[in-house]
Amino acid sequence: MFPIVRLRRNRRTSWLRDLMAESILRPEDLVLPIFVIEGENQRQEIKTMPGVYRQSIDQVVNTAKEAQARGIKAIALFPSIDDDLKSENADEAYNLDNLICRTIRTLKNKGLEIGISCDVALDPYTIHGHDGILLDGDVDNDATIEALSNQALVLAKAGADIIAPSDMMDGRIMAIREELDANNFINVNILAYAAKYNSSFYGPFREAVRSGKKEYLTKSTYQMDIRNIKEAMREIEQDITEGADMIMVKPGMPYLDVIREAAGRFDVHIFAYQVSGEYSMLKIASEAGVLDWQKVIIESLTSFKRAGASGIFTYAALEVAKMIE
Ligand code: PBG
Repeated sequence: MFPIVRLRRNRRTSWLRDLMAESILRPEDLVLPIFVIEGENQRQEIKTMPGVYRQSIDQVVNTAKEAQARGIKAIALFPSIDDDLKSENADEAYNLDNLICRTIRTLKNKGLEIGISCDVALDPYTIHGHDGILLDGDVDNDATIEALSNQALVLAKAGADIIAPSDMMDGRIMAIREELDANNFINVNILAYAAKYNSSFYGPFREAVRSGKKEYLTKSTYQMDIRNIKEAMREIEQDITEGADMIMVKPGMPYLDVIREAAGRFDVHIFAYQVSGEYSMLKIASEAGVLDWQKVIIESLTSFKRAGASGIFTYAALEVAKMIE
């Protein structure tokens, strides 16, 4: 008891604080999401995400090289494709020569030693912007998992290291695992977006991949209700049972309780996704002089580690890796 116990004693100096630190943020913990577009030498800034660009493949190569040099271990690719390639059933997603497949092959040909994670979901490829195949106005689960398995196979053939289904269909992890294994891709990892919420923090992302044009688009019949956590545990358990190698909780900061609970319950690697809206809030408030960017971005990412995440997807990965240096 005080005054014998003085917790401030361990915070006296910088070396003591470092010695006592429980959670350490490393560049190796970060995954950099990258938006890919057609063309050459293209970098389009995304208005709602200052400092984040849609990049043509040659630029993605440079960005990936820089990420690798800074100690980042993986990138995550997201396509922004032309409207005339979008269709009702996302046909472009199963094209072995689509933008993402060409990006993967180019990166692999350059011999980069950085992991490539690819989103599996149909939203960048559908006219309606939903993650799956529509039947009578709603996303049809079983038709969609077949489509997603095709998409995953195409990505694996192109050389993807990690397949990351972000669609929230039931049974898609097992279906994709079986499809990959049947085609001898037994070593392609699956990172399941297991607890993905129907969040309004994805707004800027939908602008980035141009999938959010529809005013009334809601993903509430497949993404999780923001009010639930028990259901998140069931989703995670299910995905682990179906063969997920790692799981994701998304978004990050508003769902730290979910990360914490999952970390306590499951012996699995947990990734947190600091989504577009979280990034933009911190970035835009910092640009307005309200927050200190360096401090708030490090603080927010450290909170994911403290909650129990082993890795973090963040649009600030490059900047943060530089800061940590
Ligand atoms: C696609 C997908 C989304 C995000 C990642 N994959 C958007 C969505 O589900 O609508 C969001 C990422 C972000 O906001 O940064 N299924």
